[in-house]
Amino acid sequence: MNTSTTIDELKSIVHASKAKGKRVGFVPTMGALHPGHASLIERAAQACEEVVVSIFVNPTQFNNRKDFETYPLMMDKDLEVAQEAGATVVFAPHVDELYGGDLAVAPVDYGPLTSSYEGQKRKGHFDGVVAVVRKLFSAVEADAAFFGEKDLQQLAVIRKLAEDEFIGLEIAGCPLIREPDGLAMSSRNVRLVGEFRQTALALHGWLNRINNQACKPSDIQTALRAIESEAAEMEGVELEYIDVVNGLSFEPLRDGPVGPDAFAIVAAQVGGVRLIDNCALACS
Ligand code: PAJ
Repeated sequence: MNTSTTIDELKSIVHASKAKGKRVGFVPTMGALHPGHASLIERAAQACEEVVVSIFVNPTQFNNRKDFETYPLMMDKDLEVAQEAGATVVFAPHVDELYGGDLAVAPVDYGPLTSSYEGQKRKGHFDGVVAVVRKLFSAVEADAAFFGEKDLQQLAVIRKLAEDEFIGLEIAGCPLIREPDGLAMSSRNVRLVGEFRQTALALHGWLNRINNQACKPSDIQTALRAIESEAAEMEGVELEYIDVVNGLSFEPLRDGPVGPDAFAIVAAQVGGVRLIDNCALACS
């Protein structure tokens, strides 16, 4: 496995593989790699001969400074996980290599996709995500990029970015990977201490409850309101949103039958750790 910290070096590796006719896959990450990230790398390795994994904690997408400062860093372990999962190149640039000393990013307006839910609760977050992913896409010049459905709204934002600016780049959405007890895997889970690790299971439970109402859309709203009242009573829990949306447009679904793109989405702080989760709704 190659490691590179500069765009020039990365480009020379990628150009050499393309010259040999290799398909190039790209998995952008912020490190602290867990089996959710590994599943994306494995998917990329199944579809591509060259698999570039970027590890870069992007300062411009953190609306909360403390979250950025305490973001887990573990480069040695990450290199092992990436290699084991099938990465052939790890690109781990210094902040100046991508931003050249200027951390100002342009605002992004993709309508509800960037203004609602995560966009509303984390002001400026998607501006930073789009800024860094645009830089990374330009640096890597991949044929396909792999993103997790864990960050469903981010995936929809990236699809729009690629459609507008990176024609021909395939965006592959990959399934959300959970802990055995149902908690969505996240680099931030290591910060869930004591009883809050157990409390965090509530998010998955709420999504399941909504999914159980998928055949009776009129009951979904009742379930949402009940969950909101319950969450308000829970110690150390601050529910930011829970709703049912179209997973491509992020417009809320209020009435009518649940269609193929209907998702329940949730964000909550548990013991001061911000968690998000989602589940596709299926009436069966
Ligand atoms: P990060 O949170 O490190 O996630 C990197 C990729 O791993 C994202 O596509 C995310 O959706 C996916 N991922 C995380 N947890 C997952 C899980 N439990 N199951 C499946 N996939 C999972 O997302 C980012 O970094 C950044 O915003 C980034 C795109 C790298 C831009 O900085």
